Amino acid sequence: MPTTSKICKEAGKAQFDWPAFLENAAGRVLDFGDMPEEAREAAAGGYAEAVRLGYAVGTSSTQPEYLDGNQLVFWPVKKPRNKAVLSFPARKTAPAVHADFGEIALGDALLHYAKWPQPTVIVSDGPYGLASFPGDPPTAEGLAEWYRPHVKAWHDHALPSATLWFWNSEQGWANCHRMIEECGWEFRNCHIWDKGMSHIAGNCNTRTIRKYPVVTEVCVQYVRKNTLTSGGKSLPLREWLRAEWARSGLPFSKTNVACGVADAATRKYFTKDHLWYFPPPDALMKLAEYANAHGRHTGKPYFSKDDGNAFTAEEWELMRAKFHCEIGVSNVWHEKAVRGAERMKVGNASVHMNQKPLSLLSQIIRSTSDAGDVVWEPFGGLCSASVAAIRLGRIPYAAEINEKFFTLAKKRLENERK
Ligand SMILES: C[S@@+](CC[C@H](N)C(=O)[O-])C[C@H]1O[C@@H](n2cnc3c(N)ncnc32)[C@H](O)[C@@H]1O
Repeated sequence: MPTTSKICKEAGKAQFDWPAFLENAAGRVLDFGDMPEEAREAAAGGYAEAVRLGYAVGTSSTQPEYLDGNQLVFWPVKKPRNKAVLSFPARKTAPAVHADFGEIALGDALLHYAKWPQPTVIVSDGPYGLASFPGDPPTAEGLAEWYRPHVKAWHDHALPSATLWFWNSEQGWANCHRMIEECGWEFRNCHIWDKGMSHIAGNCNTRTIRKYPVVTEVCVQYVRKNTLTSGGKSLPLREWLRAEWARSGLPFSKTNVACGVADAATRKYFTKDHLWYFPPPDALMKLAEYANAHGRHTGKPYFSKDDGNAFTAEEWELMRAKFHCEIGVSNVWHEKAVRGAERMKVGNASVHMNQKPLSLLSQIIRSTSDAGDVVWEPFGGLCSASVAAIRLGRIPYAAEINEKFFTLAKKRLENERK
């Protein structure tokens, strides 16, 4: 591994071997703090090259929870995503709240995912199959195949601690649910947005439509399905725990001894049924310690990361989706459609039929991320989720394919930033 000083000096030269350097540097944190300004600039020239070669570059501004002032980290987009995340230094205890403005891109979101930093939250509010904006298909049929490449890319790029919030009509979601699970996301909860009867304001001829009027949308919470390797096999976390204990050759009754409890560990962390719990960091630490001290010598280490190193408590906690439960909130959200000053208009006309309330977007972002985390809004519209993200000190990355909406959203975000 070359020294930071050598990298900085050589990065500006034409013959500097970026592919070799990135292969070595991936996942490591480099500190450029003590470098003279011109050397830092030379290294900065390499960022674009890194991106072109399929590497993501995290800097102190995109990963402030992990990186201090002058650091940066590279990781390969195509290789296991948690490699770099797990090698970040210990998380800072009090992440700075700041309103860094990530990016809003014009064009198909699919073209941007590989360039964006890894998200903790993805807010998807794309086609509903209701022909409600240019490009929205007229029916919900075919929605699953429309979304599939996006949902797959979200899984491939997201952090292990990520949550996907999938907004849609009930029928649109029903058509997409199986595909979302196939792409590596696990269903957590379905939330109903009830806009209230005023939404239709007597404007609904039920004799003709022959059903009750619809005043709802759904916002469905999925968490990333994470895997770890045991005995050469990549397994979901629940199976990985059992497989690692089995590999140690110890009886399952000893999991209770390891955790210092009567029978809770076997019932909770090693059960095969739906009552399974993700072991909290202190339980995982105890299990690993016990298995490595008393288990079969030949199979060690047990309960380690895929690179063979032991998990820290911090790293283990980030293997599941973040969730900060807000008291008094249920899965039914009573909130009127956006009106008044929040509604973006040109003259008297609303500019986007689908503008979402900031209150709901703030709630989902706040509950599943921390300040400094990255939020993706692939189907920006007026980028309401990105506005909420900025206000909460998260860093938004958004795309919008329609130039008119893009221009309005960009202005909105610039105002927000000010
Ligand atoms: C339901 S609207 C989003 C509204 C947004 N949540 C808001 O509050 O303003 C969906 C938006 O996604 C955009 N869109 C559709 N396909 C896209 C794609 N492949 N990439 C980026 N944007 C896309 C549409 O132009 C539309 O403006």
